[in-house]
Amino acid sequence: MRINNKNYQTIWVKDKDPKTIQIIDQRFLPFEFKTADLKTHKDVFIAIKDMWLRGAPLIGVAGAYGMYLGLLEINSEKNVQKEISKIASYLKSARPTAVNLQFAVDLVTDQIKNKKSLEEKVKTAFNTANKLRNKEIENCQKIGEYGFPIIEKLSKAKKGETVNILTHCNAGWLACIDYGTATAPIYLAHQTGIKLHVWVDETRPRNQGSRLTAFELGQEGIPHTVIADNTGGLLMQKGMVDMVIVGSDRTSANGDVANKIGTYLKALAAHDNNIPFYVALPLSTIDWNIENGVTQIPIEKRDENEVKYVEGWDGKKISQVLVMPENSSALNYGFDITPAKYVTALITEKGVCKATKKELAKLKK
Ligand code: MRU
Repeated sequence: MRINNKNYQTIWVKDKDPKTIQIIDQRFLPFEFKTADLKTHKDVFIAIKDMWLRGAPLIGVAGAYGMYLGLLEINSEKNVQKEISKIASYLKSARPTAVNLQFAVDLVTDQIKNKKSLEEKVKTAFNTANKLRNKEIENCQKIGEYGFPIIEKLSKAKKGETVNILTHCNAGWLACIDYGTATAPIYLAHQTGIKLHVWVDETRPRNQGSRLTAFELGQEGIPHTVIADNTGGLLMQKGMVDMVIVGSDRTSANGDVANKIGTYLKALAAHDNNIPFYVALPLSTIDWNIENGVTQIPIEKRDENEVKYVEGWDGKKISQVLVMPENSSALNYGFDITPAKYVTALITEKGVCKATKKELAKLKK
């Protein structure tokens, strides 16, 4: 997708230097555009943990490259297996909720396990990470194609009037490699001339909505309005929302959806107002080992300072200001779980399906 009319993806292998992975450093958007070089698996760990990059599919692909960089750092054929396990558990611990990280690290671990030499393992890890990166791009494209008819149908029902879509957090291309999950159908609908407008939840405390989603949509010329997180319910009651579409960090085998904190409340409001609530996700976000998302998906708890301080552009640089009494404590859960019963359907790269164990299982094949 584009930034200032130039095409970008969020993560890539540095030109002429395959031992360096480059990313868009999302901490500075939308105010400054910076990239960062990742040269070790520790660099990848920090970039994931401190959210230089974020969003489930992107975290996964970064984890795969982290394995590759970690293998490059091993300098003896002795204890290779032990070193690999250490690197894998370290990377997986960077963020606990998005299952894509575990999925991708396990994928690389599995692909390299039967390779005899360290050199072969390095080569295989590199190829696996590159393949996963390409696959996630393709997945998002397909999610766009499967999600598009949903928006098209709403547009037809409204006789071409603007379709109002509400989204939470950033499930756009910045959270993936390209296109996005929740945004992929939106981009496609916009390209085909469907009139639409996106309500963008600001998504406190990290403001992925106001800082990233609004930025992305703006770069693609898509009409959008940022709203405070508590506004969506009122808009739904007033008939100002035609559909909700969000991403997911982990979806359990029964269809419960973990996504950015605040998603659940939007799903409840959508349910109460008969507004369809869709979740767009690649199959790499499904945790087939968890039967009940509400009780079993681990929820990341982040630093209370993300709630205590608000970060923004002061005209010259990014700075933080305290927005509550310094001595009060704050609680900062990163995600919540939307029970499957509030999800109208899941949009995946293999098609649209009901959020039920039975329907999901069909996609696994
Ligand atoms: O904490 P973040 O910014 O990594 O959380 C991201 C989200 O919750 C996204 O909605 C989710 O990863 C889906 S991304 C396509």
